[in-house]
Amino acid sequence: MKIPFNRPDITVDDRNLLANAIESGHSSGNGQFTQWVEAYIGETTTAARTLLTSSCTHALEMSALLCSLKPGDEVIVPSFTFVSTASAFALFGARPVFVDSRRDTLNIDASLIEAAITPKTRAICVVHYGGVACEMERILEIAKVHNLVVIEDNAHGLFAKYNDRYLGSFGSLATQSFHETKNLTCGEGGALLINDVALVERAEILREKGTNRSRFLRGQVDKYTWVDVGSSWVMSDLLAAILWGQVQRATDINARRVGIWNGYDTALRDWADTHGVLRPHVPKGCEHVGHVFHLRFRDRDQRTRFITHMKEREISCVFHYQPLHLSPVGQRFGGFLGQCPVSEHAGECLVRLPMYNTLSESDLARVIDAVHSFTP
Ligand SMILES: Cc1ncc(COP(=O)(O)O)c(C=O)c1O
Repeated sequence: MKIPFNRPDITVDDRNLLANAIESGHSSGNGQFTQWVEAYIGETTTAARTLLTSSCTHALEMSALLCSLKPGDEVIVPSFTFVSTASAFALFGARPVFVDSRRDTLNIDASLIEAAITPKTRAICVVHYGGVACEMERILEIAKVHNLVVIEDNAHGLFAKYNDRYLGSFGSLATQSFHETKNLTCGEGGALLINDVALVERAEILREKGTNRSRFLRGQVDKYTWVDVGSSWVMSDLLAAILWGQVQRATDINARRVGIWNGYDTALRDWADTHGVLRPHVPKGCEHVGHVFHLRFRDRDQRTRFITHMKEREISCVFHYQPLHLSPVGQRFGGFLGQCPVSEHAGECLVRLPMYNTLSESDLARVIDAVHSFTP
């Protein structure tokens, strides 16, 4: 039997919740399920306001608008990330400035950020890669000195922690993803966590096509009208119903994934050390949620041979993130300070092992055996 890389776990209970949402007759946004999920995430992470969105990309686009970026403004982002971390800002005319990652965590290297700041820099958007926290004290300190907005692209790390504090609670804004590859999913979806209260009202307006509909729904105005720019970034309550099932199981889902992650880490330690293969590193104070387990080989050829070796054993392993400073658009619009050797190495040599909460113990053992039988 084939072991896929990812398997979304939409349970019978989640499907029943979806059926309830359909029967309720409220299938657009802002329904009961949306409110429940927003309240749950907000109360847990302490965000001043949580808004469910149609994707993490859209939550990042809302963040760009909330920073009131003008063409020519610059936003510091890691090169080793998904396209949306940079494209959301480029969409509004800002220039993404790419910074390399730390070799151990693959998070943005905080020691390189200050050199990338210019008079045009407005924001830093960090990514907690695999839900392992960036060095937030240091990054917040730099942002304070240079008066920059901090946005956390927390697509991988909902309910992960740094020094006992939830990721997504450090920046003025944070974004989440509920894409089918994430720990909690409704197919496609996201959330914007707003920690800076001053941004809450505008965020509600942007998500509602530039109208003050949220105030109208709360009975604060007797009709709603066009008050700002914006777009249609609300999540359907049908998807929020599935998500409501998922967030209520979040503790179990994440614990199971962390168990699998630890299983890989313990079983592969000696093999990796013997062959000079890098495993993920989790610094002190970081509590992750088992989103990604990756290996880094010496070069692209080793990685290609590894993926083929696993495929021959019907195990799907994937790579991701081509460094953005090397992408065609990154090269055209992006700022870039010299080389990003860590990002380039990860782009060529990193591979992710199967990771989903329903991965059985026997399949976990099968993946581990298959890795052990590979000689880099
Ligand atoms: C770091 C990061 N940011 C943003 C996104 C985009 O998420 P979405 O598909 O919900 O727009 C992803 C997707 O995988 C991601 O990995």
